Amino acid sequence: MSLIQLVEFPSLGDERGSLVALEAETTVPFSIKRVYYIFATKEKLSRGYHAHYNLKQIAVCITGKCRMILDNGKVREEVWLDSPTKGLLINDLTWREMHNFSEDCVLLVLASEHYDEGDYIRDYNEFLKAVE
Ligand code: TYD
Repeated sequence: MSLIQLVEFPSLGDERGSLVALEAETTVPFSIKRVYYIFATKEKLSRGYHAHYNLKQIAVCITGKCRMILDNGKVREEVWLDSPTKGLLINDLTWREMHNFSEDCVLLVLASEHYDEGDYIRDYNEFLKAVE
């Protein structure tokens, strides 16, 4: 199975414009405990470079775009998040990197757990050991 699991969010558009509703356990395949967003990122700077032991996330660029790389220790795949209806599911034990943020990018992330620095794997070799 591809590492890139995209979720297409239904857009409830009418003549006034568009609306996307994200609901836990339906559109988003987990219960949402945390929401954060990344914005005003410098185009030449990258983020991420970590994995989590126990955290599922959905990432969506609600405006602008960025390039997301996912890596499970065996394969590395990339995808452009460039639409407010295109969600990317990021599972446990998946190394992620975010690159090429557009100036207007707002990357919204829905997370299955509260923030826990102890759940981060920030060293790539440690990550490789964890996936073994
Ligand atoms: P980090 O996860 O390292 O950002 P990225 O993956 O985008 O490179 O987080 C950056 C900082 O923000 C770090 O000091 C931890 C803090 N932080 C929180 O306090 N709560 C959160 O929910 C997140 C995601 C980060």
